[in-house]
Amino acid sequence: MNQIKQICKCNICGNVVEVLHIGTGELICCGQPMEKMVEKIQEEGFEKHLPIIEKRGNVVKIKVGEVLHPMEDAHFIEWIEVIVDGVSYRKMLKSGQSPEMQIEIGEGDISVRSFCNVHGLWKSAKVSEVEDKKINFAQFEKIDLRIAKIIDAVALDGSDKLLKLNVEVGDETRQILAGIGKFYKPEELIGKSIVIVANLEPRMLLGQESQGMVLAARDEQNLSVLVVDKSITSGIKIS
Ligand SMILES: [Fe+2]
Repeated sequence: MNQIKQICKCNICGNVVEVLHIGTGELICCGQPMEKMVEKIQEEGFEKHLPIIEKRGNVVKIKVGEVLHPMEDAHFIEWIEVIVDGVSYRKMLKSGQSPEMQIEIGEGDISVRSFCNVHGLWKSAKVSEVEDKKINFAQFEKIDLRIAKIIDAVALDGSDKLLKLNVEVGDETRQILAGIGKFYKPEELIGKSIVIVANLEPRMLLGQESQGMVLAARDEQNLSVLVVDKSITSGIKIS
């Protein structure tokens, strides 16, 4: 008995068919039963056939083989099929093309089959989720970066790294706690024009409210607060 989506091949003429409806008869081609192709899930030798599946948000990218499978006239991947909750999306390929596919889908169980004209049918359901770190312009615009002038700075009691800064942001004065105490003495910060994230939700640190975030860069040896190198009015929005 066949199963839905069973791939069968005629080993005489090369016909390949897929079962879309299960009947009772046997599939015959060139006068003999067609071979029911087994979905191989492990590499057997040096061939590179297993689909590699990467999901980034709603976009699924597939390549056949960690090292791409050859796409020569006599030996190539004929198709890639993505199956999402039983729904198939198939890309037919020709020699010379790259054995890759990209498709936008919703949520669901994903498996992928690839078909090599020499080495048969392969299947993988191993999906690597890749975090999409890109943001669009509208998301970037939500971050309210502003120039702030430090008018006072003291070490915070109970911490060897937190400094309590009072900063002028236009007409407003804010208190910001910054973990920069190992790299700056409070007095050397006073008067500097820095960059802050002005619309970060306030948060409590050691019983004190921090009303923004100071931008700074850090490597293994040092930390540097971002400062502006010309006189810029505090409160100005950075864009
Ligand atoms: Fe192959």
